[in-house]
Formats: sequence, C-alpha cells, structure tokens
Amino acid sequence: MDRRTFLSRLTYLFSFLTATLISLPFFRFLFGFSSGTETNRWYKLIALDSPELSEEVSRVRCTRVVRQGWQSSITEEIVWVRKKQDGSFIIFDPHCTHLGCAVSWESKDRKFHCPCHGGVYDADGNRIEGPPPRPLQRYETKVADGALMIGKLRNS
Ligand code: FES
Repeated sequence: MDRRTFLSRLTYLFSFLTATLISLPFFRFLFGFSSGTETNRWYKLIALDSPELSEEVSRVRCTRVVRQGWQSSITEEIVWVRKKQDGSFIIFDPHCTHLGCAVSWESKDRKFHCPCHGGVYDADGNRIEGPPPRPLQRYETKVADGALMIGKLRNS
C-alpha cells in the first residue's frame, strides 16, 4: 500500500467515525433507545427475611428510578405486599380502581378498604363492596437473590 492510499483510507476511517459519533444521538432519538421508562425493569423491593414481611399483608415503600426520554427521576411509592400461604407474593397497587384513593389493609376483617366512597376488596384484591369497577391492580412479582422483586404494573 502506497502512502497516498494509506492516507486516503485513514481519512475515510476518521470521516466515518466522526459521522457515526455525530449521528448517534439522532438515531437514539429516532429509534427510541432512550425513550423507554425504567418501569420496565425489575427492582428489588424488599429482602425476604425482612421483618416487614412477617405480616400477611405489609405496607412497603418502593423506590425506583424512572427514566422518560432524557430525564430520570426517583419515585417513591407505597405498595401492599401479601404473603400467601404457599410462599408466593402478590404486590398490589394501593390505588382504588374507582377514583384512585389510597386503600388500606384491615387485618381484623382481612380486607382492603377505601376511605373515599366505601370500596372494599378481599385479600386477593377482588372488589366485594362499593363503587370500584375492577379489582386492585397488581405488579409483576418474582423472587430473586433472596429478595422480592417488583416489575411492571399489570393491566387487569
Ligand atoms: S375512590 Fe375508592 S371507592 Fe371511590
């Protein structure tokens, strides 16, 4: 390879690399590489041996990083975690499906109560009284590395 050919190829290579670096943000925007939200990921919610999980239903604070486009923020939510007798878990969204008030668990009657309009749900989140049109929403749930993991909110 002579000197002229070498320099010519080197110029093409630098041009290609420069064009790639400059156009990368454009393609990320165009194809949405950065537009997904972090809510699609799994997060560690709580360690399985945590004393908070000793009750049948526990109120657990959930901290997540939510990315939307180029912005990310930390969100804190409360979820209700029910530990079933077979060792599996249900993670409930705490918002009533009527108008979104926060429901609370009453261990005396083993039901979720909504204070706003008297909505009542059973321990599986099924509506049993009041105006809520649907059961409580649930999050995807799995156990990994000794912890309860929380995923996306499932559509019910
Ligand atoms: S918001 Fe819960 S019953 Fe109305």
